[in-house]
Amino acid sequence: MRLDKLLAHNGFGSRKEVKRLIRDGQVLVNGEIITDDDYHVTELDEIELFDLNISIEDKQYFLLNKPKGCICSKDASQYPSVYEYIHENLLPDTNAFGRLDVDTEGYLIISNDGQLGHQLLSPKHHVIKGYRVTLREPFNPKYIPIIEKGITIDQNENCEPASIEIVDENTVNLILSQGKYHQVKRMMIACENEVVDLYRYQFGPIIDDGSLPVGEYRRLTEDEIELLKEYK
Ligand code: URA
Repeated sequence: MRLDKLLAHNGFGSRKEVKRLIRDGQVLVNGEIITDDDYHVTELDEIELFDLNISIEDKQYFLLNKPKGCICSKDASQYPSVYEYIHENLLPDTNAFGRLDVDTEGYLIISNDGQLGHQLLSPKHHVIKGYRVTLREPFNPKYIPIIEKGITIDQNENCEPASIEIVDENTVNLILSQGKYHQVKRMMIACENEVVDLYRYQFGPIIDDGSLPVGEYRRLTEDEIELLKEYK
């Protein structure tokens, strides 16, 4: 990776500002002052600036509280893409772990750790996803045991058993361990109802604690990354 890109990436300023720092002789690579901003470094190099050791980041893990009106696809011609909400240099092969619809809000992990994404999205893993569902009509409790056994959607598609809690007349929490296309909306149609608002508050071990407003993002902590990697 280029030295100026690495420093900008680590928050030491814009590309122009970090180039100036390099040219001013403020940056050491393996103990030697480097003044060439085009200099390339690898993860084996020791980089120092202002007495700080800087490491090359090869994996990024972001948590976005996705707002409505953006899509998880990178081909965002009709709507902005979720990646536009992450105001950082995203590394190549960065992807959302799963998809939320354009009108769904909530927790979405965005990372270039393809192996972890694959692991968490594989149907074998049954990662728990929790949704707060606001409905057009009051939820009919006769559907609770049906959802708990595994409801059939679109006449012939069987869902795995799921959990449901009534929050109030028109609101339920639905906890799924699979991820079919438009699953929550289709499950609610099978319950003779319609979703008017959908918010994902849980993705596996990452649970909304109210600290990340809709539309904002943060990096996952080391502990959260560990929890995701260990998630079974
Ligand atoms: N189920 C849906 O219907 N939409 C989503 O965005 C996620 C789950």
